[in-house]
Amino acid sequence: MLITFKVNGETVQLDVKPNETLLDVLREKLYLTGAKEGCGNGECGACTVLFNGKPVNSCLVLAPEADGAEITTVEAFSADGKLDPVQEAFIEEGALQCGFCTPGFIVSVKALLKRNPKPSREDIIEALSGNLCRCTGYSSIIKAVERAAERGAE
Ligand code: FES
Ligand code: FES
Repeated sequence: MLITFKVNGETVQLDVKPNETLLDVLREKLYLTGAKEGCGNGECGACTVLFNGKPVNSCLVLAPEADGAEITTVEAFSADGKLDPVQEAFIEEGALQCGFCTPGFIVSVKALLKRNPKPSREDIIEALSGNLCRCTGYSSIIKAVERAAERGAE
């Protein structure tokens, strides 16, 4: 079936299968490989993208559901080789190791800071509860979000 949606501000029209996921379409048809497939069943958050401004696990969204939607992937947050302030804060705090989870975290943090520019530590923990990281132990990630919020990174 033919669907039309916006990805990172650009309108795209694609022929998709009813059982194809948004994650597969983004990665394999649009070559936006920032969102990662970790678990493939909604547990890890590595595939997080914004769907009409809200973070979703794109592995759980069927491509036809994206018809008419506005999708934002992590690729939208760096322009002309310049990183987003949230990405800068992750680097400065050493909030990534293998980096597999990082795009999903960045998307979730962007959504958090947009709706709550000055989140408490509890707000941060709650907002990131759907994103798993096997490497960092989370404290550097929380510090990075606090650093980004201090700088008004929303
Ligand atoms: S790959 Fe989507 S939640 Fe893990
Ligand atoms: S940095 Fe490796 S899973 Fe998070």
